[in-house]
Amino acid sequence: MELMDFRSKWVLVTGASAGLGWEMCKVLASDHGANVIAVARRRDRLDALKDEIESSSNSSVLPIAADLSKIGDVDRAFREATADRAVYAAVLNAGITHFGEYHELAWEDFQTMLATNVTGVVRLATQLLPYLEQRAARGGVLIVSSMAGLTPVPYQTAYSATKAFLVNFGCGLWHEVRHKNISVTTFVPGGIQTDMTSGVRFRALGGWLMPVDECATEAIDCFRRRRYLHVPGIAMRVGATMLRFMPRQFLTERVATTYRKALETAKHR
Ligand SMILES: NC(=O)c1ccc[n+]([C@@H]2O[C@H](COP(=O)([O-])OP(=O)(O)OC[C@H]3O[C@@H](n4cnc5c(N)ncnc54)[C@H](OP(=O)(O)O)[C@@H]3O)[C@@H](O)[C@H]2O)c1
Repeated sequence: MELMDFRSKWVLVTGASAGLGWEMCKVLASDHGANVIAVARRRDRLDALKDEIESSSNSSVLPIAADLSKIGDVDRAFREATADRAVYAAVLNAGITHFGEYHELAWEDFQTMLATNVTGVVRLATQLLPYLEQRAARGGVLIVSSMAGLTPVPYQTAYSATKAFLVNFGCGLWHEVRHKNISVTTFVPGGIQTDMTSGVRFRALGGWLMPVDECATEAIDCFRRRRYLHVPGIAMRVGATMLRFMPRQFLTERVATTYRKALETAKHR
């Protein structure tokens, strides 16, 4: 299939009020001339994004405030996004984590993580894919997972499991929709400098974090190229390749050592 062309088309981005989502909206508008449907809970942040993009480019931004951990809000966001405009593509990026001992994660917080990282993504993809197929505009969906989805990450155990779901979900869909003239790409970043990693517990892992603007540029580029799965940054790509050849138990122990040290360091700050 040909490369995607975002110019003057509407692209929906979830988790657009901060971090990677915010930056991807800016890249879509400034580098690719796209209009953006920006979805997240914080309306004031979405309005700020709209001001920033519309004052510096010819692109338009439609903010939709929605809590994507709630099915009713997911469905409303889809309805509002597609009501008066043709959506060409979507970036399913909203996500949350828990970094700490497994037992520190309250049941309600686990439910919210599962609903945001998994159920909301599946629900939105399940509405978007037939919609995109019917429109026959050769669009696509980018699913933002994580390298934490490629290997177990102790101390981000539940998060890592939700991201493993997204890797398998996105890569499975890549095959299922290929002959329908739409594409699904799975984006698998390592650490990124965003609010998600700004807490004291992440501080010792700071050296691993990629600048968010670089990560966003690679995300939109691999989406445009309709890649199967893409890990941004050369060092992380080499790391992801090596993961495939390491015994899983050995790898789990190495990752655990690094993350445990970060938690210990945070306790003494
Ligand atoms: N940062 C990293 O190191 C890293 C590494 C690999 C993968 N990722 C993935 O990249 C994606 C973006 O993360 P980030 O680092 O940019 O995090 P971030 O700065 O914390 O931003 C998260 C975004 O998700 C939105 N969001 C969270 N819960 C939501 C909900 N219930 N409904 C709607 N929107 C919600 C937030 O908006 P509101 O709060 O306004 O709702 C915000 O816009 C996530 O899927 C994350 O798992 C991050």
